[in-house]
Amino acid sequence: MSDPFVRTRAQFELPDGIVYLDGNSLGPLPKAAKLRLAREIDAEWGGKLIRAWNEAGWIDLPDRVGDKIGSLIGAPAGTTVAGDSTSVNLYKALTGALSLAGERRVVLSDTGNFPTDLYVAQMAVQALGRGHRLVLAEPEAVAARLDGSVAVLMLTEVDYKTGRLHDMAELTRQAHAAGALTIWDLAHSAGAFPVDVTAAEADFAIGCGYKYLNGGPGAPAFIYVRPELGERIDPALAGWMGHEAPFVFDPVYRPGLGIQRMRVGTPPILSMAALDAALEVWQGVSLADVRRRSVELGESLIAELGRNCPELELVSPRDPARRGSQVSFRFAEGYAAMQACIAAGVVGDFRAPDIMRFGLTPLYLRPEDIAIAAERIGRVMADQAWQRPEFQRRAKVT
Ligand SMILES: Cc1ncc(COP(=O)(O)O)c(C=O)c1O
Repeated sequence: MSDPFVRTRAQFELPDGIVYLDGNSLGPLPKAAKLRLAREIDAEWGGKLIRAWNEAGWIDLPDRVGDKIGSLIGAPAGTTVAGDSTSVNLYKALTGALSLAGERRVVLSDTGNFPTDLYVAQMAVQALGRGHRLVLAEPEAVAARLDGSVAVLMLTEVDYKTGRLHDMAELTRQAHAAGALTIWDLAHSAGAFPVDVTAAEADFAIGCGYKYLNGGPGAPAFIYVRPELGERIDPALAGWMGHEAPFVFDPVYRPGLGIQRMRVGTPPILSMAALDAALEVWQGVSLADVRRRSVELGESLIAELGRNCPELELVSPRDPARRGSQVSFRFAEGYAAMQACIAAGVVGDFRAPDIMRFGLTPLYLRPEDIAIAAERIGRVMADQAWQRPEFQRRAKVT
């Protein structure tokens, strides 16, 4: 049987000589995005100027891109919109959810959640000034903390450090049974494995465009709202693009239909176009195949590093069914060791205080790349290359 990922790999620009294990942080450049940006700049912006909003369909691009992402996360057309950052979309989702939550006052999350999610929640409840508070439980103890005080369960499906996977469908079921709404951060899920927000009955979902979706640095994020809720939420971030009729220039805000009210201001068209083109790669790709290959790559990396690098402690779940599409290891000198790996041609990243992360992205990563990467990482560890002073100096971005 032919390998479905030979075709997808050919659609990316991949620098020679490196094994890229950081597509969970920034996906590589899709060739289609490069071509599309050139066209968008020359023919549309350069040639059509302001007319491109209508003639090139710029105004509807957030919906078209949203629907493409929607098809990867099980969302029906018209329920997902692209734009803003994940942080901003979380603010919209959380304030929207709290506008529906009645007297309940607790936003429940877990201690492993990504810092931006926790910061957004801390300050959103303060800005609302209605007495909500953020409560954190250990990831394994979230379900037990659900009770009649919880307004919203706000979780990231895949832990950004360890790759630990929450059971979105089961936790959503338990949250609903307790009378709470759910918000799922799918930053490390969308494009990483099959996701079905409809089957899981998730109320809100958000996520990034620049990781597994390969939309480029700072690509627009996305937000999904369950169709039954779309018409009922009051947006706290109201902008003209989310108005029922933006070009009527009504001085009074009237929310747009459903997901439209999650739009705020003018979309960044060049970034949006790059993401739109990047999403073309997914045509004909089965996310079940992606998952199968991702598990194969992860198992092989864990096995090889387990053999060659006893210093590296696996912190991802050993059971592939319980982890997303990355594997992470703890090592006290992890920052310097990752710098040494990068110098040796294996690009992963580091998350403080001591986690080395390796992302697994079957669209452009082959089984043989894992063998090459493991051999290079093994050499870095055996030579203690991480002790070299140039690898100890911390850069701003890790
Ligand atoms: C789980 C998670 N949520 C949110 C973010 C932040 O997204 P943004 O910078 O688009 O706001 C990240 C970034 O890596 C992330 O990993």
